[in-house]
Amino acid sequence: MDLCDQQLQEIRDQVVNCRKCPLYRERHCPVVGEGNHRAQIMFIGEAPGRQEDASGHPFCGAAGQILNQVLEAVGLKREDVYIANILKCRPPGNRNPLAEEIKACGPYLNRQIEIIQPQVICPMGNFATQYLIKKYGLESLASQNGKLLGISRLRGRVFETNDLLEPSRKIVPLYHPAVATYNANLKPVLIKDYQVAADLLKN
Ligand code: URA
Ligand code: SF4
Repeated sequence: MDLCDQQLQEIRDQVVNCRKCPLYRERHCPVVGEGNHRAQIMFIGEAPGRQEDASGHPFCGAAGQILNQVLEAVGLKREDVYIANILKCRPPGNRNPLAEEIKACGPYLNRQIEIIQPQVICPMGNFATQYLIKKYGLESLASQNGKLLGISRLRGRVFETNDLLEPSRKIVPLYHPAVATYNANLKPVLIKDYQVAADLLKN
């Protein structure tokens, strides 16, 4: 185990024992995240669903099937990327995350980003996108008339963070793959946007 593996294991241990918000009470398995510990690209979802909560693996249900297909279509393998969520425990009935839950759980994601140091971060859906836009102070670039734009306006756009990294770290908001479980017509749109993020790795 190298240092990066050790540090990610520490987060796993902390999450398994976490009681920082009430979601620990009803969860079965926390879903910490998985993939390549040296990934150049990270995908961030919202929170575990029923199948993820049962297995402990992110994106293993219906949305995960779509994500796998889209990743394959843009030339990425799940083994090469890292996939995590803002919330590590499932909200009952898959309700939306609460602001205080995001506040309590966010530091685990922040640590994961610090350890993995991806060149590209892709928040999927509105909650993850808002979280990362705020984390990196990109609100003014992602707003109109003082209001943060929604994912349908931000998807596929490339934002640069000011972490003083060389090359700079990019944030690419994307539709959550679950949108294509309701509307199959959106699959080509997903592929087009995810390709924008994948292409950044080639430079
Ligand atoms: N939806 C998410 O946001 N994350 C998962 O892990 C599964 C479904
Ligand atoms: Fe802890 Fe996050 Fe689970 Fe809340 S959701 S109990 S903060 S790991």
